Amino acid sequence: MPRLLISGAAGQLGGDLLDTATARGIPAVGFSHAALDITDRTAVARALDEQGPDAVINCAAWTNVDGAESHADRAFAVNLKGARLLAEECAQRDVLLMHLSTDYVFDGESPRPIPENAAPAPLSIYGASKLAGEEAVRAVSDNHVIVRTSGLYGRDGPNFLLKVLHRAARGEQLRVVTDQVTAPTWTGHLAPALLRLIEMHATGTFHLTNSGRTSWYEFAVSGLRTAGLASAVQPILSAELPASARRPQHAVLDNCAWLHAGEPALPTWSVALDDYIGELRRRGRLPASLVTA
Ligand SMILES: NC(=O)c1ccc[n+]([C@@H]2O[C@H](COP(=O)([O-])OP(=O)(O)OC[C@H]3O[C@@H](n4cnc5c(N)ncnc54)[C@H](OP(=O)(O)O)[C@@H]3O)[C@@H](O)[C@H]2O)c1
Repeated sequence: MPRLLISGAAGQLGGDLLDTATARGIPAVGFSHAALDITDRTAVARALDEQGPDAVINCAAWTNVDGAESHADRAFAVNLKGARLLAEECAQRDVLLMHLSTDYVFDGESPRPIPENAAPAPLSIYGASKLAGEEAVRAVSDNHVIVRTSGLYGRDGPNFLLKVLHRAARGEQLRVVTDQVTAPTWTGHLAPALLRLIEMHATGTFHLTNSGRTSWYEFAVSGLRTAGLASAVQPILSAELPASARRPQHAVLDNCAWLHAGEPALPTWSVALDDYIGELRRRGRLPASLVTA
């Protein structure tokens, strides 16, 4: 297995990737944002020269979807310029770049699962910045793997599920949309699949998510039930939500390329949810008022 460098390693996915690689004896080094800013060319070049990785996995990103609407320059600085800079520095050293992207590059108009070769049409600044990052990575070198995933959650967040659990534990009123469908994906399942792609010497674009589909409403209700909290959730429509960014209605990615490569589908979103809540419980990270539930 090649030597890995993981950027954004203090994030949800970066953290689980580093732990998974380390647990498997795969040589990997992780850099948090503070340790390596991917928009700083000198710092990136130094990290690559000092660590000498065979592959870089870029988990660093601006992920605040609503915040990107009013901070487009900052979202593009990380999601486009940072991605391009990493791609250029990797290409100069013949290092594979695995770059993470999102279902939000699509408009989600069709209820059918979205294959890798579907035409992107982002609805938000975040989606546009991630699409621009993908295009830059493709333009720099063929020695890349772009992985689009959806509804990521893991570790200590920030993520939708933890927000729901914390708000319910505080007794807050919950309103969640029923008309946005996705395949929420646990970083604990995605991380090993990313390592498998590297082990397979895969290149190109892959969709990788937990299996099945659910609305954010159903996901919230299932999460509360699994965590042992009977909290009422009011179902609402997207139009009733004061969010800044538009989100795709049907954001279910077809994992065709992965399945075509003979790899097994990732577990269903409900299995992933059980596994994540179990992990939170083991680590004592369930919101306080849920612990005895
Ligand atoms: N979260 C989702 O629902 C979701 C869904 C689909 C795809 N994705 C994609 O999956 C990947 C991983 O997402 P995630 O949920 O693990 O994100 P995350 O938890 O928000 O982690 C992103 C990390 O990137 C760091 N970062 C931000 N700017 C940086 C910079 N200039 N240089 C270096 N590091 C920087 C952040 O550090 P600070 O917090 O200190 O700034 C944070 O630790 C991203 O590419 C994201 O776009 C996420």
